[in-house]
Amino acid sequence: MSELNIGLIGSGSISDSHLQAYRANPRAKLLAICDMNEERARNMAGKYDIPHVYTDYRELLANSDVQAVSICTWNNSHAAISIDALEAGKQVLCEKPLCITVDEALQMQQAVERTGNLLQVGYVRRHASNIAVLRKFIDAGELGEIYFAKASLIRRLGNPGGWFADKARSGGGPLIDIGVHVIDLCWYLMGRPKVKSVSGNIYAKLGNRSNIENYAFYQAADYDASFNTVEDMANALIRFENGASLMVDVSFSLHAKQNSALVNIYGDKGGAEIEPALSIVTERHNTILNIDPQITSPGFDFQGGFQNEIDHFVASCLDGVPPISPVEDGVEMIKILNAIYESAAEGREIHF
Ligand SMILES: NC(=O)c1ccc[n+]([C@@H]2O[C@H](COP(=O)([O-])OP(=O)(O)OC[C@H]3O[C@@H](n4cnc5c(N)ncnc54)[C@H](O)[C@@H]3O)[C@@H](O)[C@H]2O)c1
Repeated sequence: MSELNIGLIGSGSISDSHLQAYRANPRAKLLAICDMNEERARNMAGKYDIPHVYTDYRELLANSDVQAVSICTWNNSHAAISIDALEAGKQVLCEKPLCITVDEALQMQQAVERTGNLLQVGYVRRHASNIAVLRKFIDAGELGEIYFAKASLIRRLGNPGGWFADKARSGGGPLIDIGVHVIDLCWYLMGRPKVKSVSGNIYAKLGNRSNIENYAFYQAADYDASFNTVEDMANALIRFENGASLMVDVSFSLHAKQNSALVNIYGDKGGAEIEPALSIVTERHNTILNIDPQITSPGFDFQGGFQNEIDHFVASCLDGVPPISPVEDGVEMIKILNAIYESAAEGREIHF
């Protein structure tokens, strides 16, 4: 097989990054697109010259020429659409988070095992070019044993509203939407250790701060200032069986002085700061060194990450390259996220 026929389901904001990347991949052919909002699907079809347009994803899956699909819908539909796609014989790239509940996640994993088809989870940050650089240092043992990581994504005012603010469609707020990216990235770089316990807190104190004037922030297409059922912020401590730990805090609304992003990992031979820019810290001849790699994108290059993710997906489908983010990793993250919500609701540590 030299070319892969692609269908995309959910032609909203993030679909543009998928479609751009497929168009730039010489072995991918954009064949079909679907959105329950027909106008949105037709607009994207026009922009990317996609011949088949659907409003029901089942009809797209019934098109036997489609070999692989990108799923870019609301989180509450990832499981059903992925399972139907796998059963229809398609290879699947499913946006993060894998789904909402642990039950759904396990059903998705079973569908992968049953059908023998591929499901790659859309952990785009694993595919960032600065992460490929850092992996070389980690794989060469230059950070030693990574025993602590810290991840923080703080938005002082940044609840996008719409379906993101509707727990029934999103599964939660900043924890499941943006926390998933950085928890996964740390866990991946730490060598995917087995989780031992999780202790979390969630807060809904400020709401979406729709009273704030003169401060612009991203809003979903169906933004409604009066509707919000998700948390403002979450924090958690995750302990691993190997003794390592990960601390995380994320927010959509917080009385913080500024927005901030920080992802740091620490080993017994060296550490690394990943956000906002890659920097490696180590020690040589009794002297501390901060090493700033001279690379084109020291920070997270958004579209570059998507290009790498989609190039990897196409190579996995056509050449059998093992996926960097298989369904099992999606399942583990859904267990962690749900345990954080459970810990917060019950006010106790959850043991795995
Ligand atoms: N990897 C990243 O960095 C990243 C960034 C943004 C969003 N995402 C993920 O991508 C997904 C989509 O987010 P978005 O920002 O594009 O949202 P969006 O609201 O802009 O687009 C979602 C689209 O899906 C359509 N849709 C929903 N359910 C459908 C169904 N059952 N059948 C057909 N169409 C359906 C909606 O009509 C909408 O057009 C979410 O899971 C989100 O978490 C990932």
